[in-house]
Amino acid sequence: MHSLTEVVSAFLFSSICVLRHTIMRIVIVLAVLTAVTGSPSVTIRPEADSTDVSAHPNSVPRTVKGSKIFGEQEVIFEEEDLEEVMETGELNPDHYPAQRAAKVVQHYLNSRCGSPYKLFMLNRVHSGNAEDVANSGRKYQLEISVQEMIGNTTEKCLAEVLFPRGKQQGSPHVQASYEKLLKINTTAQEEALYQQYKMKHSLLSAQNLPDSYGHIEPDMKPLWHLGAVASSFVMLSESTEDTLYNMAQVANVTQLATENDQLKFDYHVLLHDMVSQDIIPWKLLVSWSPPEGVKVLQMTKLPQCHDCEKPPITN
Ligand SMILES: *[C@@H]1O[C@H](CO)[C@@H](O)[C@H](O)[C@H]1NC(C)=O
Ligand SMILES: *[C@@H]1O[C@H](CO)[C@@H](O)[C@H](O)[C@H]1NC(C)=O
Ligand SMILES: *[C@@H]1O[C@H](CO)[C@@H](O)[C@H](O)[C@H]1NC(C)=O
Repeated sequence: MHSLTEVVSAFLFSSICVLRHTIMRIVIVLAVLTAVTGSPSVTIRPEADSTDVSAHPNSVPRTVKGSKIFGEQEVIFEEEDLEEVMETGELNPDHYPAQRAAKVVQHYLNSRCGSPYKLFMLNRVHSGNAEDVANSGRKYQLEISVQEMIGNTTEKCLAEVLFPRGKQQGSPHVQASYEKLLKINTTAQEEALYQQYKMKHSLLSAQNLPDSYGHIEPDMKPLWHLGAVASSFVMLSESTEDTLYNMAQVANVTQLATENDQLKFDYHVLLHDMVSQDIIPWKLLVSWSPPEGVKVLQMTKLPQCHDCEKPPITN
């Protein structure tokens, strides 16, 4: 549970990027954020002072590498500098092409085995390679570390991500090896939560997870995890080589009455594409039970509105 702060901060951070601060300002915001979330473990390394973003248009500055608060890739960039450079061959693990492909693996793992007690995040890209595959698209081979945020298990995984091209257009295809993460057994917690939700006299509802202070009530955390896992289904299906999605916030969630063993929830989530800086609202119909896992029965992209354009946290 202690790692939740890190997860929340990662998402809040992605939202803060919407404000298009310079690197230095981000560092300042970071300090404020630290105070807000009260995370004791933030370390901003000295490199934070050097605004080294000129190196490569696709580069992900190392500015906050190693600062634990984010729990994952702190992809800061100067938007003006962003160009499409489709690298082939060995990739710089810190640059966008490798990071974007690796992020897709995170969404894949969440959609395969995420739950209210299992939430996967990309921890690090160790190495990557990209090649064009005749008539079908581009294939990335990656060595990455993935972290399960709730129990805090990290595993190095080998993964392959194919972004289809041309007539093959569609969601990326992912293959990954992740034995250690598969063995995480959350049956007991899930069963307890399931019973608790099932027995409730009134249906649950919540909004703004996290709130504008980055806070989530402890008993709402499983609903937030479930929303993050469900969002990964959308982010997996929507990802291309030109996107980098994070879930920014669960705008609201309502439990629905159900006639079978599957619990059902109506989610409104805000997804943040860090490349286009768009905040995109989606409505999801989600079902969950411990034996069946998480399923997204319907996903609907909603029109962007002015309210939605604003990041969920402004100050
Ligand atoms: C997560 O696990 C890693 C390595 O096992 C450890 O260094 C780190 O402190 C843990 N994080 C938390 C928040 O417990
Ligand atoms: C998971 O743990 C439960 C007890 O909490 C146990 O009954 C079950 O067999 C375990 N499942 C696996 C796959 O190890
Ligand atoms: C949930 O949020 C969406 C988008 O912000 C809004 O349109 C909808 O009315 C909200 N639903 C509830 C039940 O608050």
